[in-house]
Amino acid sequence: MTDSSTATVRPARSVRGVVRIPGDKSISHRYAMLAAIADGTSRFHNFSAARDCFSTLDCMRALGRSWKRAENGAIEVQGRGAQLSAPSERLNCGNSGSTMRMLSGILAGQQFESEMFGDESLSRRPMARIMAPLSQMGARIESRDGGRPPLKVRGGSLKAIHYKPEVASAQVKSCVLFAGLLADGETMVEEPIRTRDHGELALHAFGAEVGRSGNTAHIRGGQKLTAIEAHVPGDLSSAAFFLCAAALFPDSQITMPGILMNPTRARLLDILIRMGLKVSVAHLEEHHGELVGAIEAQGGTWKGGVISGADTAALIDEIPVLAATAPYTENGLEVRDAKELRVKESDRIAAVAANLRKMGAEVEERPDGMRIPGRQHLQGAELDSFSDHRIAMAFAIAALRADGQSTIIGADAAGVSYPGFFEELETVAGR
Ligand code: S3P
Repeated sequence: MTDSSTATVRPARSVRGVVRIPGDKSISHRYAMLAAIADGTSRFHNFSAARDCFSTLDCMRALGRSWKRAENGAIEVQGRGAQLSAPSERLNCGNSGSTMRMLSGILAGQQFESEMFGDESLSRRPMARIMAPLSQMGARIESRDGGRPPLKVRGGSLKAIHYKPEVASAQVKSCVLFAGLLADGETMVEEPIRTRDHGELALHAFGAEVGRSGNTAHIRGGQKLTAIEAHVPGDLSSAAFFLCAAALFPDSQITMPGILMNPTRARLLDILIRMGLKVSVAHLEEHHGELVGAIEAQGGTWKGGVISGADTAALIDEIPVLAATAPYTENGLEVRDAKELRVKESDRIAAVAANLRKMGAEVEERPDGMRIPGRQHLQGAELDSFSDHRIAMAFAIAALRADGQSTIIGADAAGVSYPGFFEELETVAGR
C-alpha cells in the first residue's frame, strides 16, 4: 500500500446513478479458504476485488493450492483436500485480520508449523481471541506481546471443544468452526451475540453439515468438502458508503444491483431506514444460502439516532461512515457498546473524531463510542485515512457535503476492501 496517495473530494449537490459493487469481502475470504481444502476446482464469479482477499488467495497458494483468474474474470481455486503443504516461507496476511484469524483455524489442523505476519496495522491487532480456543483444541500458537502477530502455529490432531467467545466476532466463530471441521468430535461455538453467519453458510455450500441452535453453531469433524461454482453477492459494507452518500441529499437516487442481503448483515438497512433513508429491495434471490437483492435508495430527511448493543455488533464495519456523516443529521448520532472499533485496522473511534474535528465538527469521544451532535456545518479539510480503508472512504462521503474541497491523505488504503472506490464515487456525484 502506498500511503502517500492523496484523493481530492469536491462537494456535491446529489448522488445519482447505478453502482456495481464488487463481491463481498467476508464471503470471498471464506470461499477462498474452503475451496483450498475442498476436493476439486472451485470457481467464483464476482469474487471480491479487495486487496485483503488476494492476501488470502496468496496464502493458500503458499500452502500448495494454486489459483488463477479465468478469461471470464472468475477466480478458480484448485482444491486437494484438507491437508495442505508446508509453506516454504512465512505467510503474508497483509492488512487482513480476517485472513490471519480464519486461516489460523485451518493451520491448527495441519501437520506442520507455519508462521503468519502482517503489515504495521495488523501487527497491532489482538489475536488472543483465536489463540485461546485453538490452544484448547490442541494447537500450539506463539505470538508477540501476549497475543499480537506474527503468529506461529504448530498444528496437529485437534479435539472438539464447546467454546464461548467473550467478544462477539464472526472471525473467531469461523476460525473455530474451520478448526472443528479438522477436529475429532463435535465442535460448538456459543456466541454472546449472533454475528454474521457466512462461515456456516459457506461450509454448508461446500457440503458440510453445520447445525445451529439459538446462538450456538456446531460442526462434526472429519467431513469432506467438495468444490463449488458460486457468484459472490455485492458487498453491503461497500454499498454502505453510497447509501450514506444518498442520505446526505434529498434528491439523491442510487441503484445497486446484486447486493448481499444476508439478514445478519442487512440490519444496516433497518437502521438507515430508521435514520431517514428511503430504501427498497427488489429481485431477491438466494445463492448458496446467501440472500441477494437490488437496492434502490433515495435521500429524505437524515435524522440520526442511537446505535447500541446487538445493532452495534451487526453494523461494526459501517459505523465509521454513519459517524462521519452524522454531523449532517437532524438529531445527531450516538454510538454505544463499540469498544471493538478501537482494535480494527485503526482505532476507528479516535480516527473518526480526529477527522471530524479537522472539518470543524463537535464530537464527544467515549471509551466505547461517541456522540456527534446534528445540524453542523463542516468545512473541507486535509483528512487522514490512518491507513484504514473504511476511514478513507467514510471521509470521502463526509466531504461531499462540506464547504470547500477536502483531501484525503493515504486514500489508497481504500483498495484494502474497494479498489476503484474514488473513481466510482466521481461517476455518481452530481455537482
Ligand atoms: C468480519 C467480521 C468482523 C468485521 C470484519 C469482517 C468477518 O470482524 O469487522 O470486517 O468477515 O467475519 P470481527 O469478527 O472482528 O468482529
